[in-house]
Amino acid sequence: MSSHTNLLSTVSFGEIESQNRVFMAPLTRSRSQQPGDVPWDLNAEYYRQRASSGLIITEATQISPQGKGYAFTPGIYTDEQIQGWKNVTDAVHEEGGKIFLQLWHVGRISHTDLQPDGATPVAPSAIRAESQTYTSKESGMVPVSEPRALDASELPGIVEQFRVGALNAKKAGFDGVEIHGANGYLLDQFTRDGSNQRTDSYGGSVANRIRLPLEVTRAVVEVFGAGRVGYRVSPLGLFNDINDSNPAETFGELATELGKLKLAYIHAVEAFAGMVRDDENERVHTVVRESFKNAGGGIYVGNGGLTPEDAEERISEGKTDAVAFGTLYIGNPDLPERIATDGPYNDADQSTFYGGDATGYTDYPAMETV
Ligand code: PHB
Repeated sequence: MSSHTNLLSTVSFGEIESQNRVFMAPLTRSRSQQPGDVPWDLNAEYYRQRASSGLIITEATQISPQGKGYAFTPGIYTDEQIQGWKNVTDAVHEEGGKIFLQLWHVGRISHTDLQPDGATPVAPSAIRAESQTYTSKESGMVPVSEPRALDASELPGIVEQFRVGALNAKKAGFDGVEIHGANGYLLDQFTRDGSNQRTDSYGGSVANRIRLPLEVTRAVVEVFGAGRVGYRVSPLGLFNDINDSNPAETFGELATELGKLKLAYIHAVEAFAGMVRDDENERVHTVVRESFKNAGGGIYVGNGGLTPEDAEERISEGKTDAVAFGTLYIGNPDLPERIATDGPYNDADQSTFYGGDATGYTDYPAMETV
């Protein structure tokens, strides 16, 4: 018998009732069909295999051509993409699962080669990130381009991109959406003072820096209802060359405002391949969790490098309500079933994380077929 009783127990948040607290973290796998960045049968099969998760959060999905930062990641702005995602949600629902789409605008983490007509990527401020992106098989990883600062007159258009992304996600049959506010992409660039040096009402104070993220969230909530919207943050994340001078204050305020909007959940990247600051980790995430919940928000979803045993312990201690597993979910499509029997677990092969075909994607066996 497994001792993971908390992790395998049901959980309600917003309008969602999940069969367990083993969530699937958003994972870039770069296997959309080309041309057009379209989700297809291979992707539907991958998500179908993982439908016993309490909640699948899809890979980050660009809401517009401007929001794209890597070759082969899927979009949610063309009819073909919406139809492709509909096949994915149908597959997951047939198996009794639940699935949210992660809405993504990369901001400055892009390259002119990936932008429409070779346009310059956009950001809160014209500060190039010391980071890389993947533009094509031929070029591989290249430094990101220097961005241009968005004019204030363009910001309603960014909100509109997220609103349309949410509408398209609804058309595609998703149970809800997660707004990508983490890992140094556009909304995170606005939120943190290392990347936002604006002098208008979208920069400076915390209230100003979280203005765009909150406008986006309200627009998405209008489409789906707050009970079907989550928000992802990485308060101490360093990935994509980003930092903040006071993460507890910045993300505490953001979490409070998201809680007031009654979002279904807040999802925090607590660890990510060595790219999260260790100092104050527990304190900052406690501030985020309590700020969100005290203000009226739903559940807190922790993520990052946890074993099922760690996850069980953290739930029992009240430090998280559910856990999103990334690497473990790559190798173990039937992760909750494996947790129930205390494993065994397949190892995930790093060399097939990004791009390619079914190898290292849909060929990890479930326990029955081992
Ligand atoms: C990536 O493609 O490397 C990637 C995408 C989204 C994230 C993190 C990493 O949030």
